Amino acid sequence: MTRRSKILGCGSYLPERVVTNAELTKTVDTSDEWIVERSGIRQRHIASDGQFTSDLALKAAERALEHASIKAENVDMVIVATTTPDNTFPATATKVQHNLGMTTGAAFDIQAVCSGFVFALSVADNMIKGGQADTIVVIGAETFSRILDWEDRGTCVLFGDGAGAVVLQASPDDVPNEDTITAQGILSTHIHSNGSSRDLLYVDGGPSSTQTVGHVRMVGREVFRHAVTNLANIVGETLDAHGLHSDDIDWLVPHQANKRILDSTARKLGISADRVVVTVDRHANTSAASIPLALDEAVKDGRIKRGDLVLMEAMGGGLTWGSGLVRW
Ligand code: UT7
Repeated sequence: MTRRSKILGCGSYLPERVVTNAELTKTVDTSDEWIVERSGIRQRHIASDGQFTSDLALKAAERALEHASIKAENVDMVIVATTTPDNTFPATATKVQHNLGMTTGAAFDIQAVCSGFVFALSVADNMIKGGQADTIVVIGAETFSRILDWEDRGTCVLFGDGAGAVVLQASPDDVPNEDTITAQGILSTHIHSNGSSRDLLYVDGGPSSTQTVGHVRMVGREVFRHAVTNLANIVGETLDAHGLHSDDIDWLVPHQANKRILDSTARKLGISADRVVVTVDRHANTSAASIPLALDEAVKDGRIKRGDLVLMEAMGGGLTWGSGLVRW
């Protein structure tokens, strides 16, 4: 019997502290007008001192488990997508596993920057299909504020902190082949990377190279150009894999980097703005956390309903890019 991964529930968490563009202008040479016009961002949440990525991840995971009506003791894998782990090692996921009260199973991190959540979803889906796990919590969690150079106005105004999570569980894939598109669960995931463009978006430090943590560096305009192309391509690849048209998609849940990228991708694909979930205005770019944060918002406010076809897509440093198609 083949298996399919169903998403049983989702959850998210944003740190309490909200920093508006106006507040940033007190310390950074920028303006609300520039940030809104170039990125669509109006505010971001910033973790408090002593609040770590694992703390945000734990809260999101607890909320997702509650939404899914699953107890942590019944989870057998925790995967955290993050670029801002609490420590170089051990994996942040092991701390989340422990804080959830789990004493069995496996926990590990995935590093694909802003594409981290779709990469983690892809790994989890294949773990379930391969029979290596039955119930997996997939989390995207970041304290990106900790790796920003607050004197680099080209990057520091764009990012925020947060976490989102989903609970996947194996279910028998008992629908006939011709009906697979109607079956509930993850229909497919698609992931790519191209290391030749890694200098466009990176952190200028690391344990092996500088023995420091480093700060985010980005050639914004070039990343923008790649994002528009790669995201349109990945959506096309996903639709083609199922013989679908963009009209078949009920909800596009994109990585939230820049409102102009979201609009451009939707326009290219002919997806109307009212079918795109947008949080970038309030959350800014939360890297691996942005998709599950947006997903959770749209599920909890009733926009995404059971049976809807949901397409997630992301692009990030590496460069990495990917998608996940889900029948909610
Ligand atoms: O999540 C991973 C993927 N990341 C992305 O997808 C981000 C992709 N890139 C972007 O979103 C955009 O490129 C940015 C929002 C980063 C920048 O927008 P842009 O339209 O590409 O602007 P730019 O970098 O070309 O800069 C235009 C001008 C420059 O001034 P000059 O050289 O034209 O005089 C910058 O110095 O804007 C200036 N600038 C700022 N001005 C006010 C850059 N940052 C700021 C700022 N406030 N914060």
